[in-house]
Amino acid sequence: MAAAAIFPMELDRRVDEFIARTHKMLIGGKRVDSASGKTFPTYDPATGKVLAQVAEGDKEDVNRAVAAARQAFETGAWPKITPSQRGRLIWKLADLLEEHLEEFAQLETLDNGKPLTVARVADLPLAIDLLRYMAGWATKIEGSTIPISFPGANYLAYTRREPVGVVGQIIPWNFPLLMAVWKLAPALATGCTVVLKPAEQTPLTALRLGELMAEAGFPGGGVNVVPGYGETAGAALAAHPDVDKVAFTGSTEVGKLILQAAAGNLKKVSLELGGKSPNIVFQDAEMKAAIPGSSFAIFFNHGQCCTAGSRLYIEEPVFDQVVAGIAEEAKKIRLGPGLDPQTTMGPLVSREQMERVCGYLDAGAREGAKAVTGGHKLNRPGYFVEPTVLVNTRPKMKVVQEEIFGPVVVAAPFREPEELLAKANDSVYGLAAAVWTRDISKAHTIASKLRAGTVWINCYNVFDAALPFGGYKQSGWGREMGHDVLELYTEIKAVCAQL
Ligand code: NAI
Ligand code: MG
Repeated sequence: MAAAAIFPMELDRRVDEFIARTHKMLIGGKRVDSASGKTFPTYDPATGKVLAQVAEGDKEDVNRAVAAARQAFETGAWPKITPSQRGRLIWKLADLLEEHLEEFAQLETLDNGKPLTVARVADLPLAIDLLRYMAGWATKIEGSTIPISFPGANYLAYTRREPVGVVGQIIPWNFPLLMAVWKLAPALATGCTVVLKPAEQTPLTALRLGELMAEAGFPGGGVNVVPGYGETAGAALAAHPDVDKVAFTGSTEVGKLILQAAAGNLKKVSLELGGKSPNIVFQDAEMKAAIPGSSFAIFFNHGQCCTAGSRLYIEEPVFDQVVAGIAEEAKKIRLGPGLDPQTTMGPLVSREQMERVCGYLDAGAREGAKAVTGGHKLNRPGYFVEPTVLVNTRPKMKVVQEEIFGPVVVAAPFREPEELLAKANDSVYGLAAAVWTRDISKAHTIASKLRAGTVWINCYNVFDAALPFGGYKQSGWGREMGHDVLELYTEIKAVCAQL
């Protein structure tokens, strides 16, 4: 029998070494300081202590990085690389990430707070798989030949799919490495060059990934990583006149700012924004699956998921049973530091996020919602909030309408499918939804009527590199993953020759 894991655990030697280093930005294939010389701290959310200091990018650094990406795109080694070579480089990166899986998982846990057990089985494998999926696309980005009817001559007309150019990518902190890979992999497969700005809360794995990319053999300047704050580095990237496209994941509020900033040069924009996803349990559901599944829907990654199943609609006859079941599941969750092998839920990412979530708990209580379980932060260092189930909610409450982005679910009963659909679609968001029932006809009928980019039936948070992902309404623009993402990173050129 294996010895029980001990905590505090000993970190991978490479993690200690990496954290102890000076964290510079990656521009034009070099590790450089910020132009201002400034740095900013990144924290360990389990303790609230500073983990590392990181070079703080700002406008000047973004200018340098965009210039490097432009040069790499136009005249550097990047455009000379064949699609097959691009595919192999991306595959090589996947192999390297797999070799370094434990190191990356630990680094992610330290910087973000999530349980190491989760980083190992979710964040890392999904990132590796997406790289391999996109590596395959590098050689399959095709145009078509098109018969045309223009009078007077014969023509050969065809389309080419060309890389959109220099891409700015701004990502959040909930799945730091995975979000970096979601953004980078399709950009690289299509032959774009990139300036990536990781979230200020979690810059470390993106910086380490940049190093692995150099090791994989990607030419310098193709991918530049500029850590820094959103209002400075992020805003400069979104507004930059020489960036052809910006891809953003984060809050709907900032998504709207990105759009305004992008108007200057009409750069292409793709947005993956917030959600308030309805999770629907019918009385004929397989409760053994629906109850733990609905708990997972909200509590996975501490509710810090854009897809979190944060509005629970339960058919009235089973309302009490399902609420009690999910509260039981919540009580089984072990809150603790992500590195502790016993932990099943870590701290929230930051003090700010903990305060935001607690603000919602207070607002819910003021407006009359009742916590069946949870409802408070923990009185200990670090940013821990209890998994919480709220009932006695009304549709217009803040906790029902707004994205909380924490381990808080609001539950309400329904009687009729029409009433259910009206409630489920009563949101400015439309990212995801789920239905639990044994009636396949009902499941697919409801699925077709939910205004959401993803609908899960008898499952939740199933992500796959091959499945397109994105939002209806204010949850975003465009679809990431699957082959649909290639459209976000390519322009179509029509070529017409008179024969
Ligand atoms: P945020 O939207 O401010 O941050 C996401 C990214 O955008 C970060 O890299 C940040 O530096 C950057 N950013 C911020 N302001 C910017 C600006 N003016 N211009 C360009 N880039 C900018 O999200 P934040 O403040 O971390 O979290 C607030 C709320 O946003 C959360 O409570 C949650 O509701 C939502 N959110 C949603 C995410 C999703 O996956 N859809 C991810 C993170 C947050
Ligand atoms: Mg913000």
